Formats: sequence, structure tokens, C-alpha cells
Amino acid sequence: MAVPRQVRDRAARLRQEIEHHNYRYYVLDRPEIADAEYDALFRELLRLEQEHPALRSDDSPTQRVGAPPLPEFAPVRHRTPMLSLANAFEEGEVRAFDKRVREALGVDAVQYAAEPKFDGLAVSLTYRDGVFVQGATRGDGATGEDVTQNLRTVRSIPLRLARARDTEDLEVRGEVLIYKSDFAAMNRRQRESGEKEFVNPRNAAAGALRQLDSRITAQRPLRFFAYGVGVAAHARWQSHSETLDRLADLGFPVCAQRELAGGVEALLGYFRSIGSQRDTLPYTIDGVVYKVDRLDWQGKLGFVSRAPRFALAHKYPAEEQLTEVLGIDVQVGRTGTLTPVARLKPVFVGGATVTNATLHNEDELRRKDVWIGDTVVVRRAGDVIPEIVEVKSKGRRRSDDRFAMPKKCPVCGSPVVRLPGEAATRCSGGLYCQAQRKQSLLHFAGRRAMDIEGLGEKLVEQLVDRDLVRSPADLYGLPQETLAGLERMAEKSAQNVVDSIQRSRSADLARFTFALGIPGVGEEVAKILSGHFGSLQALLQADWAALASAKDALRRENAKRKRKGEPPLAVPLEGIGREIMESVDKFLHEPHNREIIQRLVDPHGGISIREQLRPGVAAAARTFVLTGTLEGMTRDQARALIESRGHKVAGSVSKRTDYVVAGTDAGSKLDQARALGIEILDERALRQLLGEP
Ligand code: IVH
Repeated sequence: MAVPRQVRDRAARLRQEIEHHNYRYYVLDRPEIADAEYDALFRELLRLEQEHPALRSDDSPTQRVGAPPLPEFAPVRHRTPMLSLANAFEEGEVRAFDKRVREALGVDAVQYAAEPKFDGLAVSLTYRDGVFVQGATRGDGATGEDVTQNLRTVRSIPLRLARARDTEDLEVRGEVLIYKSDFAAMNRRQRESGEKEFVNPRNAAAGALRQLDSRITAQRPLRFFAYGVGVAAHARWQSHSETLDRLADLGFPVCAQRELAGGVEALLGYFRSIGSQRDTLPYTIDGVVYKVDRLDWQGKLGFVSRAPRFALAHKYPAEEQLTEVLGIDVQVGRTGTLTPVARLKPVFVGGATVTNATLHNEDELRRKDVWIGDTVVVRRAGDVIPEIVEVKSKGRRRSDDRFAMPKKCPVCGSPVVRLPGEAATRCSGGLYCQAQRKQSLLHFAGRRAMDIEGLGEKLVEQLVDRDLVRSPADLYGLPQETLAGLERMAEKSAQNVVDSIQRSRSADLARFTFALGIPGVGEEVAKILSGHFGSLQALLQADWAALASAKDALRRENAKRKRKGEPPLAVPLEGIGREIMESVDKFLHEPHNREIIQRLVDPHGGISIREQLRPGVAAAARTFVLTGTLEGMTRDQARALIESRGHKVAGSVSKRTDYVVAGTDAGSKLDQARALGIEILDERALRQLLGEP
């Protein structure tokens, strides 16, 4: 059946719009619309294509979700070989490269194009008459694998280019990779679902690219950056930099850090400058690449074996190195966690000398099977704590080379415990343990907690060792003279510390909750808790057992509602699981902790906590409508409760209503709320929403 004209036009328009937004999001990193609006466009196109199968085509953005699995990848012969690059590690090698180039060309100076060397996988993308028709891996350089279906799922790869002479026959080359942040999120999900984590972004990208089932690839956050062309049959581009500019015009992502360098000194400057930005780039790089910019000169220089003479990769020091484990110590953290730490034969890795690397916990150590005397791979990337990746070769391995978790805390001598189901072994000494005291003070004073500037490791060490401070509450009574009497403390810096302690006397509830150092309560959880309870008093009085069962009940209720197609009720403390609730409960009921908290907020000289509304709700007052009879309060009481939290109660339901509170015998207002998709609360949900016990 013919597709009606206006449907065809609408589909074409939707495709254009969707690809425009893909480009804004994945290439420019500047989205113009909200995810929900994008989803709506996408769903509309999907629906049109389902209703009119004749509309379907390979270059539609709906095809980016993947296709049924292939039995295997077909081989693809590259029209021009995909080469590798000669490597340089030292300045001298870069100078020698420049000299060779100048001599071979018989010129005094050469302009180079410099760009980062992406640590991903090389691919080739073939376009015919502006349409993406084939994508291939590098393979052995001569023949690769046909991964077209997989590459079609990569949102930053254009499926269709402007039709022009340049795009009639064009093969673009570049790198497929995964951003560091996306990789971290992927691994977080793997961890949470108990699956094996990926080793690094490159391996994760390689695995995704070589999936026979492209629907799996479509779920992986692959990105693409173009760094050149294999074939540009009809283009008349004169230089590498012009090539990349044109590719950018055509909609390909190209690296924003590319630069032209007028000689070898500029190349070395570029190497240093990118090196200092390395940690802040969104993707991993292992060096920079220098290419003679003029394409005719590139042609003149040609190739040696499998690498071009016109280009050079200048590599950064490796982030992984081999070294020997000299010993395995145990460190005690803020919550008493005992962490095995390997003492290493000093090794230069990732641009710094490393002498210690974490082994995370006993299970990790056993899984990697690290013994004293083994030769191991250490990794240090950016600011992260160096870690042991794997054992490269075993040492002598006498029985006492095997690590054993101590039975007593190495700092305070209290017994250690490892609870069933927990990875961590902990010291049971609590704040009696000096190691835990120190760490909990440092956490309390941290920038994201109470932000007490100047209260660093050295100072905390002295304060605890001399028994001047046992808990955070003691900080607020510290005289300036006491501080000034400590080592490395001038009058002035002592005064600065006193001043910053003073400044921390006013804090919001989220920060304060986070600062307490409750196991399992990070910044996010602290925000949710403070938003829910609104005041420290409410948090301290919470009935956690009741909350947990209310949550379960609401979940069951919502499951029912979902089946019936009814809108869900708000679940209190969404995002906080039973384990965290138990941990908070236990911490807040521990008499010693309670005493510290009471002292911290003592009206005479303690901290004063700014009260807070629910997140999201805090930004704007919400509008409630009441209907039916409530069990535990009158209408007026409900109204007073809502208004006491800064919200409004309206008499009738409209689009502007945020919640309808429904009791028994609710009338037409309830129907209106359902029709408009407004969230409906019962009395209990209302109380929970407002943080009222
Ligand atoms: S140009 C003729 N530019 O490095 C030169 N390659 O060792 C061909 N790579 O397999 C490559 N970033 O995957 C070039 N900006 C960049 C690159 C880059 C990463 C990879 C590429 C290739 C390998 C060569």
C-alpha cells in the first residue's frame, strides 16, 4: 500500500530532527531538548514505521537499536591498508622524526597537525552517495571484519551525509571508544548486578564492537571520533587539517584539541599541554599523533614497512608497570574497614613513583591471589589510588608469604569482625580506635562535609594522638592556644583553623548528615534523608522498622496499580535500600553516637542546622488537592500540615495540581486526577512525603 504523502513527509522530518538532536547530544555535547522530548520524537517515528513498513530504511535513526544476531562477521578487504604508527617515547626521537621529514622533503620547516592518540579501536566507515553503507574493523590492516550493524548503533556516527561530490565515495577512518564516565557507570551497573567488571574502557569498547548481536552493542555507550580518510575519491582537500575541518562540517565528531604546530618545539609544547589535560579529557589517550599537514607532502614521504613516514605517535608513560610486592600491610579506615595494602618496590608509573597499591579487601586479594614476593601489574591512572591489576609471575611463596587478615585491629587491638555477606573486615573498636577517630574527623572536616579548612591529616594526627580531640564534638571547644601549641602550627594558622571551625557552625542538614560518617551514607543518600525528614529531630526520631515495612507495602501496592494501569503512589526514601536503613538505624541508636550528635547541636555553642524541604519540592511550592475522608486527621489538620511545609492546598483539580490526597469516599476529584495522570496519595503517603512521622 502506498504511504500517504503527509506521513512520508512527517517521517522524513522526524528523521532529520532526531539526527539533528543526536548530533547536538553526541557530537557537540550541547543538547537542545530534554530526553523526554527526544523520546517522544523517536517513538512517533517508530510508530509511523511500524504502521507503514514501506517507510523503513537502513539509514533511519530507529535502526540504531540493533538488528538480529549474525552467524559471523564477513571479511572486508580495505581499499587502502589501515596502517599503524611509529612510536616515540623521548624528545630525541621526536626531533629525529622532524629532521628526517625535513631532509626527505628538502625543506627548512614543516607544518604538522597534532592531535591526541585515542586509546580505542580503529574503524573504517564507507559512504556511498552520502549514505553509510559499510563499517569495518582494522583487522590485520589489509582485511578487517564487517561490523556495519554494530556501527550503525553508534549515535555519533552519521548514517547520512549531505549529498555532494565529496560524499559520493568516501571512507572515513577514526576511533571507536567509550568515555571514562560512561565506563564507570557501566562497571557500577555490573557490580550492582553481581556481574564481572570490565578491565578498561578499551576492552569494553572492543567487546561491544565485536558483538554478533548488535542489539547488545546498541546498549553500550560507544562513541566515534574521526581522524582521517582512507578514500576520498572526489574530494580535493589539500591538508590533513582541512580534511578534519571538512569531516566536522559533514557532521563527524573530530577532536576539539587538534592543533597546527609550526615545528618540533611546538610539537613538544603540544605534547606537554595535552599531557597536563590528560586526566580531564572525557576519554583515555595513550599519546599524541603528529602528522605532516600537507597531503601532497604526505604522499611524497610514503611508507616504511607498515607505518607512514609522515606521522609519528608520541606516547605518554604507561599507566601500568610491573613491580614486586615487598609486603602486605593493613590500613584501618573511617568506619573501621581493614584494607590490605601492598607495599611495592618503588616503580615509575603513570608519571609518578608508586610505593603502595590497594588490594581492596580480603576476597579481592584472594581472587587475584597476591602473595608477598610476587611480581604484579600495578596501574595508576590520573588521580585514582594505585591498584594491583593481576599477578604477572609468582614469587617463592613460602607459607608466611601468604597474607592473613589479622584477628585484632593493628591500631587499637580490638577484635576484628567480618559479617556474613559483607566484603569488609572491620575493627570493632569504634571511636575507641584511634585510626577510626582520625579518619572520621577527617571525613567530618572534609570539603563536601563540614568544610573545615586547615584541619588536615597532620593536624588531626596530633589532635588524636595527644587525646585533645576524641570526636567531632570536641572540635567546637578547641581553644586557639591549644592549637597554636602544636607542631607546625603558627599563631596565624591556628587562628585560621579556629575561624573555619567557627564558620562550620551553620550547616544544612544534608551536609551534617553526610559529615556524621554513617556507614553507607554518601552525599546522595544524605541528601535524600535530609529531604525526606527535613529536620534533625525528625531524623533522630524516625521509626525505621515502620518505614521499611511501609515502603514494602507501597511497593506491593504500586505493583498492583501498575498492572491495573493506575498511577503509582510516591514511595518514601526512594533509592535507599534496607541495608542502608538498617545501618542508619543502628548508627543513630548507638548511645555513644547519639551523645556526640547531641553535643554537636548543643544550643550553647554547637552547630545550628538549617532546615530543608524535600529536594525538588524545595525549589517550588507544590499544589495539593484534598478529597474524601482521611482516617487520622481532619481536612483542616491535613491542610495545616501541607501549608506548614510551604505548599498550597487548592479546591479543585487542574493541570497545575501536583498531588491529590484521597481518603475514603473520594469523589469526582479522584477521577479527574486519574484522567490527568496526577499523582495520588493516601494519608500515609502524604505523611511520608512531608516527612511527618
Ligand atoms: S592516524 C596512517 N590518528 O593508532 C596513520 N591514528 O598505531 C593512521 N589512533 O590503529 C592512523 N588516535 O587506531 C591516527 N589521532 C589518531 C589516532 C590514531 C588513535 C590509533 C589508530 C591506529 C593506531 C596506529
